[in-house]
Amino acid sequence: MDNNVEKRLMIECDNLVKIYKTAESEVLALQGLDLEVDEGELMAIIGNSGSGKSTLLNMLGGLDRPSAGKLLVNGEDILKFDDKKLREYMKSTVGFVWQNNARNLIPYLTVTQNIELPMILSGNTVNKRERVLELLDAVVMSHRKKSKLSQLSGGEQQRVAIAIALANNPKLILADEPTGSVDKKTTNLIMDVFRNMKNQFGVTTVIVTHDTQLSKSVDRVVAIRDGRTSSEFLIKKSYAQQLTELGDQALDQAMAGAIDTHEELVVVDKYGRLQLPKTTIDELKIAGKTNLKVEMEGEKIILTMPSGEDLKNFKRKIAEPIDEIGS
Ligand SMILES: Nc1ncnc2c1ncn2[C@@H]1O[C@H](COP(=O)(O)OP(=O)(O)O)[C@@H](O)[C@H]1O
Ligand SMILES: [Mg+2]
Repeated sequence: MDNNVEKRLMIECDNLVKIYKTAESEVLALQGLDLEVDEGELMAIIGNSGSGKSTLLNMLGGLDRPSAGKLLVNGEDILKFDDKKLREYMKSTVGFVWQNNARNLIPYLTVTQNIELPMILSGNTVNKRERVLELLDAVVMSHRKKSKLSQLSGGEQQRVAIAIALANNPKLILADEPTGSVDKKTTNLIMDVFRNMKNQFGVTTVIVTHDTQLSKSVDRVVAIRDGRTSSEFLIKKSYAQQLTELGDQALDQAMAGAIDTHEELVVVDKYGRLQLPKTTIDELKIAGKTNLKVEMEGEKIILTMPSGEDLKNFKRKIAEPIDEIGS
């Protein structure tokens, strides 16, 4: 039966590039990022600080524009939106949850007033009361509905922030390090709330974080590295579950591998000889290969397995050194 239900894509990023230009430098924050997210998915994008996570969320939320690439949300090309459509999109299609929830919350208003506010601003006042009660219940904050925000703990404020993000019934929730400043127990509570939101309202949720532990609480994890996601770093649900069964340590190791493998350093000695890490040599099976092709690309040195044609040229060059100099 389920075979007939076609999966809809909520997000489609194709070759997204974002360059931040300042007077003295250019930062390539996204370098051709590809990402697809199904409708109703609860997923995490995990990466080190500076890997482009917030940049990506800002693009998805319409807060900033990519320098190049394609970006569809809910089937619509949001890069083609005019100002009015973009405002509408930010009010009703997406909801934001920030790490610093001062961006979501007004401290001197009550929990109820905070959740009502986005509805009032958008003119969604029909069934406002019912919606607030429903959301309070979903984030398990009904017992504090009359409290001022300033009277709540960090975790409680973050749950209210999730309710606020959902107030106008968005299709997509974007959360930037939502558990960045709370302890482990509170993190689990917040993740339970996100899962509850997915199950109860079918909302698609993208959480960006550097916390590898979050991968246990989501359907899927994508690692982002230097502004790029790549299929080698995708961890599918079954794999994440397997790791969960293996325990925290295995999970940390696997995620560290997914995120940090590029940090491996190589040695060039004083004669210019290059020493590659053993793992790299074993993986590429290049032990004893003497004819690797060397090219420069900007500051990068690229080593490539030579083609048959390269080898022929190489041999010819060695055979005819005088010609080279003479020409
Ligand atoms: N407004 C900006 N101007 C210049 N550089 C920026 C700006 N925002 C982010 N960057 C740079 O882009 C890169 C990615 O940043 P960001 O998306 O914030 O990473 P993350 O959220 O993963 O820590 C970093 O090198 C950061 O310094
Ligand atoms: Mg960030």
